[in-house]
Amino acid sequence: MRRSEGLRRLARETRLTPEQLILPVFVVPGRGVHQPIASMPGVSRRSVDGIVEQAHAAKAAGLGGLILFGVPDQKDARGSGGTSADGLIPQALRAIKEAVLDLTTIADVCLCEYTDHGHCGVIGTVAGAQEVLNDESLPLLAEMALACAKAGADIVAPSDMMDGRVAAIRARLDESQLSHVPILSYAAKYASAFYGPFRDAAGSAPAFGDRRGYQMDPANAREALAEVEADLDEGADMVMVKPALAYLDVIARVRDVTRVPVAAYNVSGEYALVKAGAASGLIDERRAVLEILTSIRRAGADFILTYHALDAARWLI
Ligand code: PBG
Repeated sequence: MRRSEGLRRLARETRLTPEQLILPVFVVPGRGVHQPIASMPGVSRRSVDGIVEQAHAAKAAGLGGLILFGVPDQKDARGSGGTSADGLIPQALRAIKEAVLDLTTIADVCLCEYTDHGHCGVIGTVAGAQEVLNDESLPLLAEMALACAKAGADIVAPSDMMDGRVAAIRARLDESQLSHVPILSYAAKYASAFYGPFRDAAGSAPAFGDRRGYQMDPANAREALAEVEADLDEGADMVMVKPALAYLDVIARVRDVTRVPVAAYNVSGEYALVKAGAASGLIDERRAVLEILTSIRRAGADFILTYHALDAARWLI
């Protein structure tokens, strides 16, 4: 049954198609700005005009959509660039809508790109130490989700890992006549070394401490199921596991216990390692990428957020 491509195709259990891939993009202020990201070959920060170009490319490649991250030049303690109705993601969303592209857009909802301290929520003093304040962060995250939904986001995706943020966002959207906008929660997001290049791309490395106080311990899988359950109870419509490769078991377990769509984020570090391996001639990039993405699908992900999306789509046709 493996002797020819025809036989292998008949026996194939897992399909990988462009529409299952979501391309992450980084929005910066200005016009005509195109800043390649050194740690992520082939990925750039673009101003809104360039993001519209990427949207056209994503549409032409038949991708499932785009996920947008803002990289502002001004940051403050409360991440006000993120909650602004005229923030980078809303601006890019409006421009994409104006270009009348039938392309699904996802707004990443998190304060870390917009705060001067680089944490995903607001900071306060707890028992004499600087800490992220969970409950105080919720209204800001809800405000950011609202600004993105109003600007036309098809999906909002909170990636901050504060407890209760899905409920807070759901309530804020519902009271603003945006009850139709679904929430994709980064439900099981681990405190991972594989986010390194992203933090460089988004300028979002924490100025003090780390994210282990709110992101998950890589040692835990059962806890991921509890996180998924909590987010679904709060009104999440889809759930995500992140990173993907070191957590294929978690993707499979989440797939087993839920009937909603499951996404997986093939993160910046996973991308950068493949690129570095290919550049030094250690692996064949095309084969490695398609094998990795197929594995994430085989584990149970319905769709995959990946910086390889455009290349993979090209290789799949
Ligand atoms: C937080 C966020 C992060 C990523 C997506 N959303 C970084 C973090 O938690 O530090 C990582 C994505 C990647 O590494 O590709 N807004």
